[in-house]
Amino acid sequence: MEKKIAVLKGDGIGPEVTDQALKVLNAIEKTFNHKFHYTEALIGAIAIDKTGNPFPKETHQVCLDADAILFGAIGDPKYDNDPNAPVRPEQGLLAMRKALGLYANIRPITTYKVLANASPLKAELVDGVDFVVFRELTGGIYFGQKGRSEDRNTAFDSCVYSKEEVTRITKLAFETAAKRRKKVTLVDKANVLATSRLWRETVKEYAKDFPEIELDFMFVDNAAMKIIQQPKYFDVVLTENMFGDILTDEASVITGSLGLLPSASVGEKTALYEPIHGSYPQAAGKNIANPLGAILSAAMLLQTSFGLDKEAAAIRKAVEDSLGAGFVTQDINPTKYHSTTEVGDKIAAAIK
Ligand code: IPM
Ligand code: MN
Repeated sequence: MEKKIAVLKGDGIGPEVTDQALKVLNAIEKTFNHKFHYTEALIGAIAIDKTGNPFPKETHQVCLDADAILFGAIGDPKYDNDPNAPVRPEQGLLAMRKALGLYANIRPITTYKVLANASPLKAELVDGVDFVVFRELTGGIYFGQKGRSEDRNTAFDSCVYSKEEVTRITKLAFETAAKRRKKVTLVDKANVLATSRLWRETVKEYAKDFPEIELDFMFVDNAAMKIIQQPKYFDVVLTENMFGDILTDEASVITGSLGLLPSASVGEKTALYEPIHGSYPQAAGKNIANPLGAILSAAMLLQTSFGLDKEAAAIRKAVEDSLGAGFVTQDINPTKYHSTTEVGDKIAAAIK
């Protein structure tokens, strides 16, 4: 198979973890006889530094021309501490999501036996947790009208959703549920928000054609508790943009493996794959970051965008073996650990 991959390494630890994912993809090419053509492009703070724009036109074009996008991370503390910065790295990410129509962010929350003790929750609560969050990504309060009053004393962000926006991600969530334990939980705040009531109405209507899928509804405050108290309750979680942002950060830490979790953003144009851990600036350039989230994102890319199931399985197996053998970065074992590049080399060498 011959495919084009856009490589957007971005900021912080983005470049070093993405490099490890590329090593592993190279090993996949050799072992399984594929050809991947990589094109790098700028995004985030580094793109602002070099071009003034966090999502330059050239980057947009590289993404459109590719069959899939491998993304590292964006964000830089120099912007976080400056609320008046005229452009921010995050705007690049939001602009990219919108420009590519990436309306569904898919975040699988998986646990690994060897990491059970790394979770802040008791091992018996966490062992066997396996759910996936479908977070709407191009609507809601992130993209609604926002502004400040003339006297600057009032500000607003509006949350807007259309039936069509709800239906298209609902379809994806139901398709995934059908292949899993056949349960969808819609998380909303329908006791307060009009948009949540639209979500409920639309998803209920959609579910009528899928009687084999069990659908339930949960208020977001309750869901935040349930993720801690009984995470095994969930199979497929469907939710709007901001609730999904918050709940997926919460869910990621209960696995004890924040550095391991990949994600996919899919929709109208080229799909994008990224680790969910973010730019982690404190670790940037130190060769200590965990590259497994980026490597598993590459596996998700191969499977979801290219249909390469065997290749994705080979990567996951190499990751599990390396975890099992204790060949890990210091976030997982602070007393006996290896560097980012050593872990990348190890996984690449284990691809068979
Ligand atoms: C994420 C991030 C982004 C978001 C930020 C960086 C804009 O937190 O991908 O979850 O809020 O969507
Ligand atoms: Mn987030």
